[in-house]
Amino acid sequence: MPDLYLDGRPLSVVPGTTVAAALALGGDGSARTSVSGQRRAPLCGMGICQECRVTVDGLRRLACQTLCRDGMQVETRP
Ligand code: FES
Repeated sequence: MPDLYLDGRPLSVVPGTTVAAALALGGDGSARTSVSGQRRAPLCGMGICQECRVTVDGLRRLACQTLCRDGMQVETRP
């Protein structure tokens, strides 16, 4: 079971879980904050809309295209 950190909170998920699914399981489902201050969440689930951008271990990634790994640090806030 991958154990990751979502905005500093520990979260365990089953193998094969995407970061987008982890956002829904361990948080409010949102991935980032827009320039106007609105929280944004995954929409298409297939790498097109870019709404699911998160920071994973210091790098910007698409949550819907990224599988959870043990020890991963996922940040949704700047
Ligand atoms: S949900 Fe659209 S790119 Fe990830």
